[in-house]
Amino acid sequence: MNTKKGKIAILLSGRGSNFEAIYKNSIIGDSPFEIAVVVSDKRKAKGLKTADDLGIPAYFIRPRDFSSKDEYEKNLIELFEKFKIDLVCLAGFMRIISPILIKKYPNRIINIHPSLLPLFPGLDAQKQALEAGAELSGCTVHFVDEGVDSGPAIMQASVGIKKNDSEESLSKRILIEEHRIYSEVIRLYFRNKLKIEGRRVKILT
Ligand code: GAR
Repeated sequence: MNTKKGKIAILLSGRGSNFEAIYKNSIIGDSPFEIAVVVSDKRKAKGLKTADDLGIPAYFIRPRDFSSKDEYEKNLIELFEKFKIDLVCLAGFMRIISPILIKKYPNRIINIHPSLLPLFPGLDAQKQALEAGAELSGCTVHFVDEGVDSGPAIMQASVGIKKNDSEESLSKRILIEEHRIYSEVIRLYFRNKLKIEGRRVKILT
């Protein structure tokens, strides 16, 4: 059977380990999706070089080359239309997405965040969890809305915090879970298994 694969765009700003995990998952036989394009807002992002090495179209698009955030995102939309993108995946993209992109791709932009949202949104989520003395943290894949890390959660994985954890050791254990659940969510998305009901996302069986 030759079914058409869903096309995703990855937006990243740095290392790109989530992108790599998603890529590995996308080349497994029955994957319902493929990565069509990778975009970074940082020229030196390691993920951009990885994409290039893998032969995936990779673009550095510098926000300050545009007169406004809207103009920057209009440019992203043009690129996504060119690549016929179905789903936009933020993978360590450290910019807030504005309404223009969200309206163009309603419920078609997802993000991963290294905490159990709504706890510890924003920057340095693992550090925030340690400083709060939490015993549990983890990661969340969620739909993106106009707030910061605030859209409906799709899937979470929890990670226990050890007494002697550093930001680095905790981040490392959370990252293992990030790599697992992000691809799982993308697969569910393209198999039409995600149903949004208000702020809740049901996973259909
Ligand atoms: C990941 O831990 C991701 O959850 C986090 O940035 C890291 C990117 O790593 N994202 C956020 O904090 C978004 N608010 P990666 O570049 O190796 O995928």
